[in-house]
Amino acid sequence: MSFSGIFATIKTVESPQIYVTFQWLLVAYLSIYLPKLFYYLGYQITHSAIRVKSKFSSDGKIKKMNDGRYPTISRKKFLSQVGIFMASAPFISLMFGVMKGRFAFSKRYTKLSFPNLPEAFDGLKIVQISDLHLGSLNANYKEMEEAVRLINDEHPDLVCFTGDLVNNFYEETIGWEKVFSKLQARMGKFSILGNHDYGDYSKWPSQQDKTDNLNNIKGAHMRLGFNLLNNQSQVLESNGDKIVITGVENWGHPPFPQYGDLKKASKGVEDIPFKLLLSHDPDHWDAEVKKDYDYDLTLAGHTHGMQFGIEFKNFQWSPAKYKFRRWAGLYNEGNQYLYVNRGLGYLGMPARVGMPPEITIIELTRGPLGTEPM
Ligand SMILES: [Fe+2]
Repeated sequence: MSFSGIFATIKTVESPQIYVTFQWLLVAYLSIYLPKLFYYLGYQITHSAIRVKSKFSSDGKIKKMNDGRYPTISRKKFLSQVGIFMASAPFISLMFGVMKGRFAFSKRYTKLSFPNLPEAFDGLKIVQISDLHLGSLNANYKEMEEAVRLINDEHPDLVCFTGDLVNNFYEETIGWEKVFSKLQARMGKFSILGNHDYGDYSKWPSQQDKTDNLNNIKGAHMRLGFNLLNNQSQVLESNGDKIVITGVENWGHPPFPQYGDLKKASKGVEDIPFKLLLSHDPDHWDAEVKKDYDYDLTLAGHTHGMQFGIEFKNFQWSPAKYKFRRWAGLYNEGNQYLYVNRGLGYLGMPARVGMPPEITIIELTRGPLGTEPM
């Protein structure tokens, strides 16, 4: 089947195994064609550069740079070697991303301070994870146990999982309770649904089958130890102080479904002084949250940082930036913050290159509004 044929199939998958088959076919396809493409580009670009240089040299030939100490090399051989060098970079990156990158968990720390954070919650430590896509992880339990260990080492007060537990099917969750039930958080573990958790990427024999799948996925959140917030709020109380954690169902631009009902979810908690929101799709923040609501901090996921990019100090680049306005890290407008987690699992490509799986640690303090590195 052609690449586009495979891609069309994944939109209407009939079993969890299709995702696993697809992802390894994609690796095979890219390991053959990506080096070929880069070899061609390297060869052609260098060939053109030599032609331009020849045109401007005094005698119409390439200036001889070799002073005789090194063996001479033909133009064709030189171009081939440039091509091979160019082709090896994406191949090595891809192989590294498959073998190491997809499980090279990265902790990212942020400290945020809010004047309205009640005293009893000063120092609250939140760990956020997102986009597990259990079906893609297949049976890599041991690797994910390491992620759970890294989270528990932080001794979080809250663990927030911002959706996409599965690719499409509840069967993907079977066996994972033994891993995620080990997550520990003093004040609770909360979760929401993502666009992949509704079974919308498959044709179902009947509506009842689809509903059963969704109900089983909701049950799996509980089985794995999460308190699923489905357009609901949960007030947390400590020493008489209160904050609220609200979770909405997926709210996304078409073709992603819009099940999220923030109005319903926020009902009755308007007067709580500090509000935390979980919403899978970061576009929701611009479209509704920051305009019409006063959530101090919103946690989102969904973008995966496209599992590929370059991040160095203040420089950030990923193809995700051309698709999503807010695609990774911390954003601020007025007195509201949004954090977009880059995802812990993967989808489509079983690799992460320059965009490691993320465990976000956010510490909240009481003080003038602002952020500082931890
Ligand atoms: Fe996702």
